[in-house]
Amino acid sequence: MTQLATSLVSGLTPAHLRFLEGLFPGEGLTVAPAEMAVYGADSSRRAGMPWAVVRPRTEEQMVELLRWAQAEGVPIVPRARGTGMSGGAVPAFGGVVVSCLLMDTVLDVDSEDFCAEVEPGVVTAQFQALVQKRKLFYPPDPASLKISTLGGNVATCAGGMRAVKYGVTRDYVLGVRAVLPGGKIVNAGGRTHKNVVGLDLARLFVGSCGTLGIFTKLTLKLLPLPEGSATVLAAFGSLGEALEGAREVFRAGILPTAMEFLDAKACWGIGQIKDVPWPASPDGEGATKAVLVLKVDGSRSALAAELSRVEGALAGSTPLCLLKGLGPAEEEPLWELRRLVSPAVFRLGPDKLGEDVAVPRGRTVEAVEGFQAIGAEQGIHVVCYGHLGDGNIHVNIVYDAADADQRARAKACKEAVFRLTLSLGGTLSGEHGTGITKGPYVPWQLGEEERALMAGIKGVFDPSGILNPGKGW
Ligand code: LAC
Ligand code: ZN
Repeated sequence: MTQLATSLVSGLTPAHLRFLEGLFPGEGLTVAPAEMAVYGADSSRRAGMPWAVVRPRTEEQMVELLRWAQAEGVPIVPRARGTGMSGGAVPAFGGVVVSCLLMDTVLDVDSEDFCAEVEPGVVTAQFQALVQKRKLFYPPDPASLKISTLGGNVATCAGGMRAVKYGVTRDYVLGVRAVLPGGKIVNAGGRTHKNVVGLDLARLFVGSCGTLGIFTKLTLKLLPLPEGSATVLAAFGSLGEALEGAREVFRAGILPTAMEFLDAKACWGIGQIKDVPWPASPDGEGATKAVLVLKVDGSRSALAAELSRVEGALAGSTPLCLLKGLGPAEEEPLWELRRLVSPAVFRLGPDKLGEDVAVPRGRTVEAVEGFQAIGAEQGIHVVCYGHLGDGNIHVNIVYDAADADQRARAKACKEAVFRLTLSLGGTLSGEHGTGITKGPYVPWQLGEEERALMAGIKGVFDPSGILNPGKGW
């Protein structure tokens, strides 16, 4: 955990604390450092100490808080479950952390309008299970969905494995109600699936990382629930064969729900944790150099045929093994292997830089092969895995942070990965956002004009710059 030194001294006066006590009685306010420390960290393993933590239950409290914060110039850092990977929820400059977890009501699910209205603190997986009972489907599926919230997902434009077919959180946000610094309430978008009146303010909020306003209500688009799904896991003797197999699937006219891959090091690490179905060897140089995991969904009667089509498309790459699962009970063990990557990479070293670059889909082969070559050049483990189908590659640079030489080589790897990504027309972050960890690299990707435009927009929403400072462009 890296503690950010900038935030250790509280900027709140006794009068400020009296105001917060009045607005957030009882357990609505925390100022005990041990308790607040939890609210200063997220999954980036960065941390800053809040000056106070408040937990609004109502929009009225949010309005009063933001009116006061703007008048007093107090930084405000909204957060939910802290599953973000880039420090977006970390109070880098102190301030009052606003936990949105008590605003967790599903206000409406409408199977005629195909939409739902929710408060920001609703947990993603619980929402999905709820709408599923009504035969409705909310596709965005970030890896943290069992604990992450819809508000956090919208604030970060969370991605996930189903993005290849269904898109990301942005594609499911119809409307946003938010409170701005100064206490103004803004309603953007609404319940219609089409809307072209005015600028698309709802979309502007998506992925803005709590820098423009704090959500009090989200209107989300729903789809009819597909009847069933099926999964294929195939192992290959070379990365090139796996990537070629993936291309063949698209060439066959199949749009998979998910298309994930694991490279040789990821496969080796998973093999250290669990029995794996693919041919492995203890040194990471075994027969299996890459694994593809694909999901398809649709009507139950069509799924078996769809599985055969996927199998046929992969056949030209001569898989070392191919497993199929029809329905959740058979599919789950195959997906569990994919989900083990994060713990598995720590079998290669104690620390990692976890990147989530994305490249145009036609450049994935150059990207993955290039990232691996960068690791070999620097003599450092670079593990590539993730959302191959949409070009969003997780690049984990594994090293020992206690060793200065490895720290330097890990940083050199990260910067080389970024340079290659940009040279391929890619983006530094496909789903985790720039937050603190990638903030300094934003000018590598965005030009001066674009950053000035974004800063201008930020200034319109938040003229005093109190909302989540240090997370901009
Ligand atoms: C995943 C997270 C790291 O896809 O984005 O597993
Ligand atoms: Zn991911």
